[in-house]
Amino acid sequence: MEFKRYWQSQQKMMEKNLEEKLNQFSDGTPKELRDAMQYSLLASGKRFRPLLVLLGNRVGAGEESDAIPAACAVEMVHTYSLIHDDLPAMDDDDFRRGKPTCHKKFSEATAILAGDALLTLAFQILAQSYPASIAAVCVLELAVGAGPNGMVGGQMMDLQAENHPGLYNNSNTPVLPPATSIASSNATSSTAASVKSVVASEGISKIVSSSNSEVTANITGKSSRPFAFDNSTNAHGSPSTLSDLEYLQSIHRKKTGALIQSSLRMGFQIAQLKRYGRVNEEILHYLDRYAKSLGLCFQITDDLLDVEGNHEAVGKRVNKDAERGKFTYPGLLGLSETRIKLNEVYEVGKETLHHLHTKMDGMVADREDYLGSLLEFVMQRTH
Ligand code: IPE
Ligand code: IPE
Ligand code: MG
Ligand code: MG
Ligand code: MG
Repeated sequence: MEFKRYWQSQQKMMEKNLEEKLNQFSDGTPKELRDAMQYSLLASGKRFRPLLVLLGNRVGAGEESDAIPAACAVEMVHTYSLIHDDLPAMDDDDFRRGKPTCHKKFSEATAILAGDALLTLAFQILAQSYPASIAAVCVLELAVGAGPNGMVGGQMMDLQAENHPGLYNNSNTPVLPPATSIASSNATSSTAASVKSVVASEGISKIVSSSNSEVTANITGKSSRPFAFDNSTNAHGSPSTLSDLEYLQSIHRKKTGALIQSSLRMGFQIAQLKRYGRVNEEILHYLDRYAKSLGLCFQITDDLLDVEGNHEAVGKRVNKDAERGKFTYPGLLGLSETRIKLNEVYEVGKETLHHLHTKMDGMVADREDYLGSLLEFVMQRTH
């Protein structure tokens, strides 16, 4: 089946399942809270992370029905992150998924609680939907992706970097151009130098990650999980030894990439544990690397859509990042250098997929190359 049609059919299927899950678990939930949860969760999202759970599960040769509770859980966590991201204390946005944000429609307190409730419900669904050993792996994956070393940590770094031009620049020169110059596509020469330094350092990090120096945890004896999404901060979380671009990349990897990685990893592991009682770690490693590229591409294009996107198509306000002094790719690099950087990350993702397909030869799985199509989608997305 053509990828676009496959995704549309999965979106439909997810809408139905999200609604069912909400109904199934809402006995005794106060009406206002339940309404707010439903308002944000069932608004028109792309269901990108559920799709990753489903695709990971396909690669692992699993049954689709086994991936659905995890796909619902990850979308609940993602929706909670959006509700909180939009709060006045964070990005202060009033439009999301084509509608007023949760705190605008309800109250700020209700929005905070609706986010809390979706986050908590996600873990309840995992615990109730799988045998204990698979549930434990899923809970670990989702907690790591969403938690202080993943999404929440990235959100903290994002807020700290707001309105601090030059904070992470070793030479102490301001790096965020004024809002008006963001649309200009010419990067400065110091920007070009910093692109080069990241390209060089990525070469090194590739070697480091292929020798797998990441900390791993093994809670079931069957599966391992890297706990650090990158080694970008030292023990005190200080970015002082990083270039601005490396630091920005680490924010994006955490605030957005971590949950994307968790989604694909979860789907694959559910399938493998169910079918074989163990996980093919080599395939998981390549999936993880692919998801890293995908996640970074996803947030870079999110930054681009804020500058170049259409309000109706993206379903949220545009041109907000520069106004708020957000630390973004277009803000740091300008548009044309951002596209160059995006393309580099895309190429790494493509190359990883090539390795993955070679490793998977004869293992069924991603015959239609949906993972490749998904990467293409992210590169060209308008919403
Ligand atoms: C928006 O995520 C927030 C980011 C992490 C960039 P999506 O672009 O996936 O938003 P929805 O789920 O489609 O609304
Ligand atoms: C959000 O990044 C990442 C989250 C974890 C929600 P942004 O703040 O750029 O997302 P949008 O642009 O508001 O969707
Ligand atoms: Mg934000
Ligand atoms: Mg935001
Ligand atoms: Mg954004």
